[in-house]
Amino acid sequence: MNDQYGRRIDYMRVSVTDRCNLRCVYCMPGEGFSFLPHEDILSFEEIERVCRIGVRLGITKIKLTGGEPLVRRGIPDLVGKLKGIPGIDEVTLTTNGILLKEQINELVSNGLASVNISIDTLDERRYFRMTRGGDIKKALEGMESALKYPDLKVKVNCVAFCEEDCISLALLAKKRKIDVRFIEMMPIGNGKNFNGKMSEEIYKLLHNEFGDYEIYKKRVGNGPAEYIRFHNFDGRIGFISALSHKFCYKCNRIRLTSEGFLKPCLQYGNGTDVREMLRNGADDSLIEEKMREAVFFKPDGHEFGRSGKGEEIETKKMSQIGG
Ligand code: 5AD
Ligand code: SF4
Repeated sequence: MNDQYGRRIDYMRVSVTDRCNLRCVYCMPGEGFSFLPHEDILSFEEIERVCRIGVRLGITKIKLTGGEPLVRRGIPDLVGKLKGIPGIDEVTLTTNGILLKEQINELVSNGLASVNISIDTLDERRYFRMTRGGDIKKALEGMESALKYPDLKVKVNCVAFCEEDCISLALLAKKRKIDVRFIEMMPIGNGKNFNGKMSEEIYKLLHNEFGDYEIYKKRVGNGPAEYIRFHNFDGRIGFISALSHKFCYKCNRIRLTSEGFLKPCLQYGNGTDVREMLRNGADDSLIEEKMREAVFFKPDGHEFGRSGKGEEIETKKMSQIGG
């Protein structure tokens, strides 16, 4: 369906857990952090039901996110169930890659179409520090395991903080068919305290390093990334410039948090408590109606860099929303 500004909403990001096996400095505090109790998290049956109702609204693509989705048991089964819903064309996953190797086979055989792997640096010590204890070798093994499936799209998402990381990550796309996407750090949760590299700077840096590039005019995939390709590169480089090139006008997504709250916009706290309806015996048509209402009133855009919208602004951390 279209929202009040005429944007077609066909993509739902579904967070399956707020837990994570890493503690990236800009995403989570190091300690003193509490996770939701299991009973507050939607069951797979509940998620499936919301997705079925989502199809009635025009949702055709679903991305599973977290926290880290693969820490929840049974994700490959969930992929299969969601893929089996008539009207769902594509189920994809975003992950830090640490647990990917052991689950990739089942994920793919259950119909996973694409995987986004978050890797901000290839430097072992920096990765360890940034993730507070993560092992880059595990994440890279996860990535390699995904590359063995020729029909699976593999993307690497990077919030970059230094030049060296921009170059080494971009080089991943040289010899293989990976899209490496640089994401501007958004002032959400702990992200407020960090300055990531902005797209403009990375464009220039990569241009200096790798020379000319071709620009993709056509929209690629579900999202807001703009893509380029350097000569002699097999994969593309993408830029998700949430701050410098606000793309809210073409936003096609809604989010379901792990506790079953439907959020039409990343930045705002408003939306619909779907879990309450699910657990209070609401029928599909009532849930559909409330979901339609939430989608229709999707805000026209974020106001990062400006404050003053008061209590509507989201106060949750990224791991609780599902990046
Ligand atoms: N801004 C941009 N991306 C973020 N992520 C987490 N917090 C932020 C933020 N404030 C990204 C991670 C990972 C995904 C889970 O979300 O880098 O790719
Ligand atoms: Fe986990 Fe991703 Fe947050 Fe890192 S950024 S702590 S991998 S959810």
